[in-house]
Amino acid sequence: MKLILLGAPGAGKGTQAEIISEKYNIPTISTGNIIRAALKEGTEMGIRAKAYTERGELVPDEVVIGIIKERLALDDCKEGFILDGFPRTIPQAQALDNMGIAVDAALSIEVADSEIVKRMSGRRVCASCGASYHTEFKKPEREGICNLCGGELVIRKDDEAETVKNRLKVYHEQTEPLKSYYKAQGKLLEVEGQDKVSDTTALVLGALSEI
Ligand code: AP5
Repeated sequence: MKLILLGAPGAGKGTQAEIISEKYNIPTISTGNIIRAALKEGTEMGIRAKAYTERGELVPDEVVIGIIKERLALDDCKEGFILDGFPRTIPQAQALDNMGIAVDAALSIEVADSEIVKRMSGRRVCASCGASYHTEFKKPEREGICNLCGGELVIRKDDEAETVKNRLKVYHEQTEPLKSYYKAQGKLLEVEGQDKVSDTTALVLGALSEI
């Protein structure tokens, strides 16, 4: 399966990607995680991306398109993949088409902005592996510690209230038009994000079973 996950920041793309990845045994490619790792390592790309992510803006198309091209060429993508956070603009979607990659579906998780703000304030991420938790909705087994790797759970820098507002604005202006783009290709699936992670998963897996 070649799948794109669409949705506002904090809609639950990363959370659902983890579950789909395990069920279908395909890798998740998260441009957000790749950028954060580069930032942490202080690579040239990380340094370039820093100011954009901290303002809640998108990193320039050519940077992320380059990242995706390299990543999709790796062997583990041969049987399929989940794109979490890419494409995020029409030119990125066109670049994917131009790479000759035909996705099976673009699944959008719909969540109201007011709910997003609530979710982001409680999100905690592993400083080491990037796994995502929530203080109320997805608690780790040991407080402050990642279930997967034992890393420390921290607040993401771009989850501050003002930055979240800007990320939502950018989403509505630049990313939401992708729904029409994939609808026109007959590939758009939409599910309403629910208050419980498992309820959203049930809708997501139901939608995927139709393709
Ligand atoms: P990125 O990391 O992709 O951020 P995002 O799209 O804003 O997505 P998030 O990771 O914030 O949210 P999510 O939908 O994965 O939600 P999650 O599952 O964690 O990108 C960061 C930045 O990198 C961008 O701002 C940009 O600058 C840059 N970038 C990345 N890709 C780019 C691109 N292609 N082009 C240009 N720039 C790019 O869930 C959120 C929280 O809610 C968690 O705490 C979770 O536990 C909880 N939760 C999840 N589901 C539920 C539920 N059903 N009920 C209750 N709580 C839930």
